[in-house]
Parts: sequence; structure tokens; C-alpha cells
Amino acid sequence: MNIFPKNLIEASDLNKKNLYQIFTKAKYFEENYNPKEKFNDLKGYTVALAFFENSTRTLLSFELAAKRLSAETLNFIASASSLVKGESLADTIRTIDAMLVNMYIIRNQYAGVPYFVSTITNNIIINAGDGKHEHPTQALLDAYTILKHYGKIEGLKISIIGDIFHSRVARSNIVMLHELGAEIGLYGPGTLMPQHLNYWNAILHNNINEVINWSDVVILLRLQNERMQSGLLPSMNEYIKFYQVNLANFTKKDKIILLHPGPVNYGIEVEHCLTKQHNSMIDRQVTNGIFTRMAVMSLLTNIEDK
Ligand code: CP
Repeated sequence: MNIFPKNLIEASDLNKKNLYQIFTKAKYFEENYNPKEKFNDLKGYTVALAFFENSTRTLLSFELAAKRLSAETLNFIASASSLVKGESLADTIRTIDAMLVNMYIIRNQYAGVPYFVSTITNNIIINAGDGKHEHPTQALLDAYTILKHYGKIEGLKISIIGDIFHSRVARSNIVMLHELGAEIGLYGPGTLMPQHLNYWNAILHNNINEVINWSDVVILLRLQNERMQSGLLPSMNEYIKFYQVNLANFTKKDKIILLHPGPVNYGIEVEHCLTKQHNSMIDRQVTNGIFTRMAVMSLLTNIEDK
């Protein structure tokens, strides 16, 4: 019997077997998707979308995923809530719990909030991104996108380029892609690299052409100005010169795909003209996000699999 976790708070909550269960279920949902019919996996469930930090992709795809599984959804908008009047996060969660919800999807600007909520409620928690900590469903949809393209993940060389220090996407991807047997390469300005580099068991690259040439997959990251102290980069022009993926450097490599979690700073970490005809997977990642999130929600509520 496989043990599926109760909550998804960080990538290490999922072992390889859990990950392939999610990919198999996501493929099932993708292949059987019919806009006129819903799946019944979450019929009778109420899902609270508790987003304390802005989001387009994650919020909308979780909402669509929940609705396609026949759940009721409750949208909690922090800026329009009684948090503004001074109500605590714990009291907010207890109040939503009293409305008989079953699952929380939590996005918060502070690392650790989904874990904190899991100590207050017995309902299912899915981390939709917490500060600089983790964003496990982004890593799931990235892995699913790579698996669909290459038919495997084991043995692939996957590089993560850019603002790794502030990136919850990088942290979740490194853990999950290692669990799936990929080799990880990292490249970015020294001031935007994670601390304790040895801990990440990754190959460090020294220039943009070298890292692209090494890679089967490039995952680009956004410069996260909202989490950055001033002075971490000498100038934007220098960042573009040394770290941007563009038509000239990316198309030198024959077999390679480009992923980016979004939102994208076009013209900074990536050139505008790189599109799906050059193997940019950015739009496909968004579509795959719905199916992988449907799969996670379904499996977390499937008592027989626990
Ligand atoms: N990738 C991602 O988390 O995007 P959003 O902030 O738009 O949800």
C-alpha cells in the first residue's frame, strides 16, 4: 500500500512513487478532459483559496482545478478581509474552518505559513507558495511538462538560472527533480545564489553559453524585485548581458526546452522573441498546471490511497 501524505507543504512530502501517481492521474485528467463534463473526485468538498499574496497562474488554476473536480470554492481575499481590522491569522483560519471547509490552498508572503495553518486545522493543506520557502505544485507542473516532452526525467540535465536565492520555485524544483533522478545545474549572480551551496548537490556553472550547452532543460527564474534588498545587482544591463537567455545563445543548442514559472520579465531574464517554436514551454506549463493540481487535490482526498 502506498502512503500518500495528508498535506502538501514542501516537495519532500512526496516520494518518487507519490510523484508518479500524480503524473499518471494528471495524464488521465488531461486525456479525458471534456469542458462539458466535470469529474466527481471532489464532489461534496469545499476548497478555500486563501491567497494572502498576489497570484494569477496559481490562484486561477487551483480554482479551475477544484471546479473541474466538482468542489465548491471559497475565495479569501486578504486585503478585503478582517485581517485588515487586526484579526489574527489563527482566528481567520478558525473562522473559515467553522464554515465547514475541507481543504486550504494557501499562498503567503511569509515562509512557514502553510505549516503554521496545519497546526491549527485538521483540514487538508496545499502550499501554493510561501515566501522564499517552497512552491511544490509549481515543481510538479514543471516536472510533468518535462516528462511529457522527454518521456523521462531520470538522467536529464536540468539547469536553473537567475535569482535562485529568493526563489521558492528553485527550492521545490531542486528537491523534486533530484528525487526523480535528474542532475541539477545552477547559474546566477553570486549575490543571488542560495547559501550553503554544497547542501543543494548541484553543479555550478560559470557562464550562460556553458550552462545552456550542458542542459536538456533550462528553468529560468524571474528577478524577484519585491524580495530583493537594493545593491544585489550592479545594473540591469549587466544582468541582461551575462544571464539573459536569448535567441542567439539558446538556439545554439539543438535539443533543449525552456521553462519559466512566470510572471516573466520579458527583455530581462529572457528575450521576447523566444517562443514555442524555439521550444519555450511557458504556455504549456500553465495548461499542465491545471491537470497536475487536479491530480494532487484528488489524491490528497483519496482515503483509499493513504
Ligand atoms: N508561477 C506562479 O506562481 O505564478 P503566480 O504568482 O501568477 O501564481
